[in-house]
Amino acid sequence: MISDKMTQALNEQVNREMYSAILYMSMSAHCNQVGLKGFANWFMVQYHEEMLHAMKIFEYIQRQGAQVKLAAIQAPPADFKSPLDLFTQTLAHEQFITRSINDLMEVAIAEKDHASQIFLEWYVTEQVEEEENDNDIIAQLKLISDNPQGLMMLDRELAGRMTTVPTDFSKGVAAAMAAAGA
Ligand code: FEO
Repeated sequence: MISDKMTQALNEQVNREMYSAILYMSMSAHCNQVGLKGFANWFMVQYHEEMLHAMKIFEYIQRQGAQVKLAAIQAPPADFKSPLDLFTQTLAHEQFITRSINDLMEVAIAEKDHASQIFLEWYVTEQVEEEENDNDIIAQLKLISDNPQGLMMLDRELAGRMTTVPTDFSKGVAAAMAAAGA
């Protein structure tokens, strides 16, 4: 059982995670268009991760016998100035998501909702990794500056990022994660 306030806060987070997914999908399309196929791959992997984040909350709300209420997802931007602009925007977005997860945790604590606190711990840890990944790539992009060879090397590195999360949720999140070894 979770409170109406907790349910509403979790539903809002489903929307934020799905916005994150289409934001990275849009960034992937942009990278593909400008010939940065490795960057495009990195953002598509990120898209799949965000869908997992949304699906885990979607399923948790239902397991708690509460109502899922989906809402319209804001359109993401389509134009970006440079790879550094992409990752600066990505980091700023992830910092926003981190704050929203912290706010959710505050609701769970105020409601004395121990189950939701335990559930949300996975997201607290995940956000540290998300911001770390973005900071690492931003640091590399700053070193590369305007060097096309350096950019191509990073593009090749990002092409190697593999999807390690499930992409098929037809049998539920737990089954999909087990099948993907996630
Ligand atoms: Fe779902 Fe990138 O935070």
